[in-house]
Amino acid sequence: MLTRTAMLDAVTQGKPGTAMKSFSSVLGVTEIQQVVDFVQHEFMEQGRTNTEYHTPENGWPDHERYRAAFPFALGQIALDTPWEQLTPDQQIGQRIYMNSCISCHDRGRVQEDGVIWDARPLSYPRNNFSFQGDRPADAQTGASPYAVHDRRPVLAAATATQRHGETLFQANCAFCHAADGTGKNWIGSFLEPHPRDLTGSRVRAMTDDELMQVVRNGLPGTTMSAWKKVLTAEEISAIVAYINSAFKLEKK
Ligand code: HEC
Ligand code: HEC
Repeated sequence: MLTRTAMLDAVTQGKPGTAMKSFSSVLGVTEIQQVVDFVQHEFMEQGRTNTEYHTPENGWPDHERYRAAFPFALGQIALDTPWEQLTPDQQIGQRIYMNSCISCHDRGRVQEDGVIWDARPLSYPRNNFSFQGDRPADAQTGASPYAVHDRRPVLAAATATQRHGETLFQANCAFCHAADGTGKNWIGSFLEPHPRDLTGSRVRAMTDDELMQVVRNGLPGTTMSAWKKVLTAEEISAIVAYINSAFKLEKK
């Protein structure tokens, strides 16, 4: 039902009040046409669910030679399947995966979310890092340097409103702004402009009313969308109470 013109408009101008921002300052006119035609051809006409990444044009000639590792990348075989339960082919695949694919594909799928790997000084992630539990994440042992920002601050004493705000923030905002409010999580690092660091001086200088306003109305042309049709005034106010307490914003 979408016409090419409507799609070009949406990418060029964005959709105010939603997270669809304008790309006119990021992509040229021809680039916007190319990406729209690609979406139309690839997904709307051909109905493809995924786009091949490992192509020769992307710098991956003959990726098929790693076929044995595909089931681990695609999550068809859990990475922690006991070695003796793997066929010889799968064992080769698991080894390739651990050496060459894990850096991007991370752990793929695992059965047990506990201690996954034995310490392997040359492998990555290292030192039995697990996403679960209270293990301190750091760039050395962490499966990703972003993990440290996916931890919410511990609220020692919090009011019921702040707790409510915490639940709402972590469910709606942390995806872009990170659980710790810094915007230095995986998604946040890729968005342009970056999600604002909610622990920083700019937000500290904002009054509660100003914060409420920006959350209600969003920031046009960025992925910061308007939340007024999604969250009630009470909910937004609870989120602001949470931001103030969790990110230690001393208000003047
Ligand atoms: C530099 C990062 C990187 C490395 C290293 C990497 N991959 Fe990928 N892989 C990707 C990305 C990005 C995608 C696309 C993901 C998507 O579309 O959801 C992908 C997708 C895939 C797919 C789905 C089909 C496709 O081409 O999109 C398979 C299968 C796959 N990778 C296997 C592997 C195997 C096996 C290895 C190790 C030999 C490997 N990958 C190493 C980044 C990487
Ligand atoms: C889809 C990603 C995304 C989500 C989800 C999101 N934001 Fe944002 N937010 C952004 C971006 C990007 C900016 C910075 C825009 C800029 O630099 O102009 C931003 C900016 C802000 C600012 C700073 C405003 C200013 O004037 O400096 C606040 C406060 C904020 N967001 C709060 C929230 C709250 C609260 C939620 C959840 C209800 C939320 N955001 C959800 C992407 C997001």
